[in-house]
This record gives sequence, C-alpha cells and structure tokens, in this order.
Amino acid sequence: MSKLRLGVNIDHVATVRNARGGDNPDPVRAAILAQGAGADGITAHLREDRRHISDDDIVRLSKALTVPLNLEMAATDEMLDIALKARPHAACIVPEKREERTTEGGIDSAGQHNRLAPIVAALVKANIRVSMFIEPDRRQLDASKALGAPVVELHTGAYAHASGAEREKLLEKIRDAAAYGETLGLEIHAGHGLTHDNVKPVAAIAQIRELNIGHFLIGEAVFIGLEESIRTMRRLMDEARA
Ligand code: PXP
Repeated sequence: MSKLRLGVNIDHVATVRNARGGDNPDPVRAAILAQGAGADGITAHLREDRRHISDDDIVRLSKALTVPLNLEMAATDEMLDIALKARPHAACIVPEKREERTTEGGIDSAGQHNRLAPIVAALVKANIRVSMFIEPDRRQLDASKALGAPVVELHTGAYAHASGAEREKLLEKIRDAAAYGETLGLEIHAGHGLTHDNVKPVAAIAQIRELNIGHFLIGEAVFIGLEESIRTMRRLMDEARA
C-alpha cells in the first residue's frame, strides 16, 4: 500500500496565541517542530475573519517550511489573490460560514459549479494543487472532477463524531467515496475530527493518500507535547497501513 502522508494543521496554535494577542505560541514554530516530528506537510486555514491564522503567518510559513504548505481557503476573490501571491504547494477549497466554530460540512461542488469554476481554474493555472473539501458522496466527487480539481479531501467529521453502527455506516461511505474517486482519477485525501482513537479505520483505506489533522494533535500536545502527539499519530497511521 502506498505511504499515507500526514498533513498537520497548526490553526489552533494560532487560536491560543490570539486568545491573548501578542506572539505566543507561534504557529510557525509549531509547524517547524511538526516537520521534524514527521509531518509530510503543513496545513493552515486563513479564515475570512482571521480568527486564528493571520496573513503574516501565511507569509512566514511560506518562507520557513521545507515541506509543502496546504492553504485552506474559502472560494473568494480575496483568498484567491492571497493564494496567488503566497503560491502554496496546495490549496484546499472549503466552505466558510462566519458563525460556525469549524468547517462544518463539505463544499457543494455540485451546486456551486459556476461560482467555483473560475477560482479552481485560476489556482490550477498557477500550478497550485487544488483539492475540494467535500462530503464523501459520489455526486460531489463527480462535480469536483468536472471542476478540474485533481484532488478531493473527504470530510471525516460525521464519522469522527458518530459511534457504534452509525460510525460503521459512515466509514463505509468514506470507503465507497475513496474507491469511486480513484476510478475518476482523483487523488484522495481525508480529514476533520481525527484522533489517535479513530484514525486507524480511515488510515487503512488504501485509496487515501493524505490525512489532514489539527485540533486533536494540538490539544493533545498540552499533555504529551506536540512532537509526541504527531509521532503517535504517524505510528498509528503506519500500523493501519501495514
Ligand atoms: N481538513 C480540512 C479541510 C479542514 O477544514 C480541517 C479543519 O480546519 C481539517 C482537515 C482538520 O480538522 P481537525 O482540526 O478537526 O483535525
């Protein structure tokens, strides 16, 4: 089975920093530490309201990282301008609602084709690898393919928050979407709500090439340190893959 990449999302280091203003803790320092602990990429979401990551963080991350930067962004002209200037390796298009606490659902690639198409096209033209953050649903996979995005990231939040038979059913949906997406020629990523406890069944899905994980890793760092939190995730992913 191919190696599964781990993208570490450092947004919530910035959340803690912003709770007091000032410079500490610095998400760029966390990103460099994450690189050293086995992150294959760093993910950061520059939200419209700048509640965690700032414009300056993106500039500093672009300069400091040796692994690829994945910029999560809403499909707006403002974010497109920023992405075209920052030139991250990848851009993940996410839906954004001001009132939400986190990205609650996938983007509607199917229903919003006309709005999304020029943004995806501009990013692809700039050689930025575009992924659509979607629900694990065949219609959304078809629509992402039609948009010309080479990658989709399957939203695992519903799976992560469910239990018992419901969790198994939602896992099956992710498996189906990953297998179907690969037949369309899409590269498959997944993420949201993943923890040391629930990552293995997702990591075992052969078609998935990358997981993006943030909130749990940063929270767990309070107890065991960021490097250990990431190393444990890496080990669990490798075990699931073996
Ligand atoms: N992938 C995407 C597209 C996201 O928006 C997020 C949350 O910012 C994640 C992955 C990571 O989710 P979590 O922080 O729950 O691990």
